[in-house]
Amino acid sequence: MNVLVTGGAGYIGSHTCLELLNEGYGVIVIDNLCNSNPKSLDRVQSLTGKTLKFYEGDVRDEALLRRIFAENEIGCVIHFAGLKAVGESVAIPWKYYDNNLNSTLVLTKVMADVGMKNIIFSSSATVYTADNEMPLQESSRTGNCTNPYGWTKYMTEQILSGMANADKDWGIVLLRYFNPIGAHESGLIGEDPRGIPNNLMPYITQVAIGRREKLSVFGNDYDTPDGTGVRDYIHVVDLARGHVAAVKYVTANAGCEVFNLGTGTGYSVLDMVNAFRTVNNVALPYQIVERRPGDIATCYADPAKSAEVLGWKATHTLEDMCRDSWNWQSKNPMGYDS
Ligand code: NAD
Ligand code: UFG
Repeated sequence: MNVLVTGGAGYIGSHTCLELLNEGYGVIVIDNLCNSNPKSLDRVQSLTGKTLKFYEGDVRDEALLRRIFAENEIGCVIHFAGLKAVGESVAIPWKYYDNNLNSTLVLTKVMADVGMKNIIFSSSATVYTADNEMPLQESSRTGNCTNPYGWTKYMTEQILSGMANADKDWGIVLLRYFNPIGAHESGLIGEDPRGIPNNLMPYITQVAIGRREKLSVFGNDYDTPDGTGVRDYIHVVDLARGHVAAVKYVTANAGCEVFNLGTGTGYSVLDMVNAFRTVNNVALPYQIVERRPGDIATCYADPAKSAEVLGWKATHTLEDMCRDSWNWQSKNPMGYDS
């Protein structure tokens, strides 16, 4: 079966293309490369020894999508394409609503027209409200998002679940990712953020490689064991394998289902710093600074539903995540353009 992967040249998409190829799926990618480098796809092909088909273009381009569906027999879509920088979404909200909502609307319109109605969507733990009990279950409260990026994920979930409700032919899986980090063990594909990283792990690796002076730890006065923020970090290869499990599920089941993709374990910022130093034996200077606006103290998943229904569980440890993040960064100090 062929899987159409939107945003397949990106961080999570490229790792998922690799797992799909290794599992024997045909892979077709559409990506406009607005936040990625096509070298990721070259490397996926050399790592797997298999080829994939790449269309450079925008998911909002209806004519291009119609051409892709006409030229390929597609059994499932994984929709990664989207913009994801929280701060930029506050500064330029229209860009986020346009890209993230219209890409889904155009894509699902074309899918409905051609009668191929299986889709997996990249949602986020950001859709959960800040006042939930931990761990977060799929039934925990959602909404009250603190930024336009989060609202695009929330709204897309509403759009897709409404479609499944109205038309029983749709098979829809909403995957709520927790905090993906790490890289393929080869060190050939990984996260390659443009500009100053927003997220913790790419910032850590750029400090360790000497591109940044020191890590700023955003607050040590949270109600957590050491006062720093706690998150559920998940290895990107585990996350990618969760998508393969979701492809199997969505092609066999109609309706709309939500799954958390997390490990169920939370680590603090200082846990991450200490693990990274120990595993990789590198210096990692840091300073404690003010809290970052919009951050919450603690966020981790209950992954029981994914285990039970998808038969999927994260297997990589914190040490694996720190080792593989560093392996990627040290082999590619400037990312794909090293
Ligand atoms: P990424 O930026 O590396 O990948 C997204 C890809 O989509 C990029 O290759 C980009 O060029 C492409 N793209 C964006 N808009 C497009 C469009 N209109 N048409 C065609 N291609 C387009 O990001 P990622 O970390 O791999 O995230 C993938 C998805 O997962 C995103 O939807 C993101 O919001 C979601 N997500 C990511 C995280 C995270 O922490 N990385 C957490 C939760 C959810
Ligand atoms: N942090 C620092 N210093 C940094 C960066 C982060 O101390 O330079 C801290 C944050 O305060 C937080 C933790 O590290 O406590 C993780 O921060 P990230 O920015 O890596 O991740 P977030 O949990 O804030 O957000 C991520 C994605 C969002 C997504 C969310 C879902 O960036 O897009 O996970 O849980 F919505």
